[in-house]
Amino acid sequence: MEPISRRSFLAGVCAVVALGGSEVPAAANTAVKKLPGGRLSVDLKAVPALAKVGGATRIGSVKGVPVAIARTGTSKYIAFNLLCPHQKVTVTQNEKGWVCNAHGSEFESDGDLALGPATTGLARVPMKISKGLATIG
Ligand code: FES
Repeated sequence: MEPISRRSFLAGVCAVVALGGSEVPAAANTAVKKLPGGRLSVDLKAVPALAKVGGATRIGSVKGVPVAIARTGTSKYIAFNLLCPHQKVTVTQNEKGWVCNAHGSEFESDGDLALGPATTGLARVPMKISKGLATIG
């Protein structure tokens, strides 16, 4: 095995931080507004990751809990929190869905459980949608 250079290692770390540390894609920042009581208002059509059925993205924090929205149908969306049900570590998004780096649990893009040790999917968060605007929390 070839040793990894310091530059390659740092580039990888920066890429992971950039993917995991961002709450919302830059283009979607204007789509999300904070509401009183720690809730969020989201203009669903202005979030690029939700343009297609099956899309999902971390959208921000609701009452201090990291939350994502997934598009599950043409006009169906769900919100769920990103705390792993196993031991409450925040999951990160990958190409298949969500993964918990603490002990390896995996979740589908809509938060359903794919692989333990977690025994349930990511917990749903209440969301109301009216005229394309979602209120979460
Ligand atoms: S905290 Fe997520 S798998 Fe253990």
